[in-house]
Amino acid sequence: MCGIVGITGKKQVTSEILNSLKRLEYRGYDSAGIATLNNDQINEVKCEGRVDVLEKNLLKLDINGNVGIGHVRWATHGAPSDINAHPHSSKEVSVVHNGIIENSMLLKKDLLKKGYNFKSQTDTEVIVHLMSEYLKRYKIKNAVMKMLNSLQGSYALGMIFKDHPNIIIGARRGSPLAVGYGPGENYLGSDSYALKSMTNKISYLNDGEFCIINNDQVEFFDEQGAKINKKILTLSSDEKKYDKGDYKHFMAKEIDEQPNVIKNCVNEYVDKINNEINIFNFPWNEKDIKNIILIGCGTAYHSCLVAKYWFEELTDLEVSVDIASEFRYRKNRLKKETLYIFLSQSGETADTYAALDLCKKNGMKTCAIVNVIESSIARDSDFVLPIYCGPEIGVASTKAFLAQLLVLYILTLKLSFLKKNIDEQTYKQKIKDLKNLHSQVEKTLLLENKINSIANIFSDAKGCMFLGRGSSFPIALEGALKLKELSYVHAEGYPAGEMKHGPLALIEDGMPVVVLAPKDSYYKKTISNMQEVIARGAKVLLVTNKSEDDVFSENIWETIEVELSNSDLIPILLTIPLQKLAYYSALKKGFDIDKPRNLAKSVTVE
Ligand code: M6R
Repeated sequence: MCGIVGITGKKQVTSEILNSLKRLEYRGYDSAGIATLNNDQINEVKCEGRVDVLEKNLLKLDINGNVGIGHVRWATHGAPSDINAHPHSSKEVSVVHNGIIENSMLLKKDLLKKGYNFKSQTDTEVIVHLMSEYLKRYKIKNAVMKMLNSLQGSYALGMIFKDHPNIIIGARRGSPLAVGYGPGENYLGSDSYALKSMTNKISYLNDGEFCIINNDQVEFFDEQGAKINKKILTLSSDEKKYDKGDYKHFMAKEIDEQPNVIKNCVNEYVDKINNEINIFNFPWNEKDIKNIILIGCGTAYHSCLVAKYWFEELTDLEVSVDIASEFRYRKNRLKKETLYIFLSQSGETADTYAALDLCKKNGMKTCAIVNVIESSIARDSDFVLPIYCGPEIGVASTKAFLAQLLVLYILTLKLSFLKKNIDEQTYKQKIKDLKNLHSQVEKTLLLENKINSIANIFSDAKGCMFLGRGSSFPIALEGALKLKELSYVHAEGYPAGEMKHGPLALIEDGMPVVVLAPKDSYYKKTISNMQEVIARGAKVLLVTNKSEDDVFSENIWETIEVELSNSDLIPILLTIPLQKLAYYSALKKGFDIDKPRNLAKSVTVE
């Protein structure tokens, strides 16, 4: 998704902006650009495509200066093109923008009447002309406030000005924005990762705030223009974790990191000596929590669906799951005795943030399960449970999914024990099983070669299906999502029992179907559903777990057996072959695995 960088200092800034834009590439984008102020003139270079194309173009045109802004764009209004790429500039001002201006058409109509010409199809260009218009009548701070007041929708903005040569102005509503502090220079960035190569001192803007950044000071203001103080946070330095090492893709590395991710996460939450789950400073009494609503998007939503099965099995809590983009607009009956849990790797997903905001504004209990602990969702929730999986760079979420599941399971166990839904012996046994999980994940990863050869069939398929029952159903959804987002093969996840109600019509000779059938209470039912698709010509890949009992079924094309474990933890193990399957299917097609087409790592627009 779009990313912003801005630098004001005493040195030339273009190459540093370029480096930061490279760091933002992981977010997924389609065009890039930079604008600087040089000899009292705004200059911009921008183009469709990757940052290295921009870099080549910058070699031809020297636009260096001491102040500048850069952007990677993920198209919303107007197709990806040179002209629609950011920054958008007039003689007076240059603007980079993340978000969507919802009233842009109305504003444009007005500005056209006033004689402004529009070059692009973007919503952002109205900001440029509005700013130019207000600068004719007001001093800069008031002009910015007037302009911001005219906007509806969401934005993170970075702006430089011809007549104010050393400043960058940043503003935030709905889309994240950070300020960084350096020696003799200061920065603006859409996330701390963009700025980390330059500084570890960061402040975050809240909704409605704006800032004026000079090379030697930064001033923050609220919506009414009153000056505010900001905390400066020191970020941990985890640069090494952003390295692909010997791997070809971040995704492959992140899948293989999972045994360690699990080990670390269990170490964070499980007290080694007492064999006890530590969730410190939990702000509520468990007796005051009667229901749980889990909310997320994409893969994070799938982890919520798995957790529903765990909570229902192990606690007496009523649990429901919601897709954030649906939750935020439905007529919800928010309840004080409900704990609202928000799942997000990035902690910046616009819909998930809006759902959290809605709950906060209504005084509900909110808990965030996130990877990025400095993120907006983490900062604005009452309570945070980090997933401790380290930076996830591949757009396809892998290790974060496993870590989300793990934290949700840990929370389930803790609440279940506190609420006396399970006895101490069961509780302690389940904690013991958790401690072994990393080695079962490690062994399951050894299935690599077999999955690599199976992937040929999937990568060439016109379409395929993933079926499961119980907690294997959300894993089927996740397997299908991974395959479609990476190898662009049409894949559907279904509850196995639902096939006869329509989807069975899709099965034709040779169609690959993944059947997730661990040897749990659903096993026999799922195997019957598997027979029904085999009878109609499907090529079935059965994913099950090792056990004493053999699979009593015929005509299965291939079988993969994950390790044996506590049955609660099976969804975690089933996920691994599906991640590998998606990876190898995309690899065979030569696709850009870490940055699949049209997708972004951090979805900061709704
Ligand atoms: O950062 P989040 O966990 O909030 O992101 C949610 C989804 O955008 C994300 O999981 C997405 O579905 C992934 N591309 C899936 O691999």
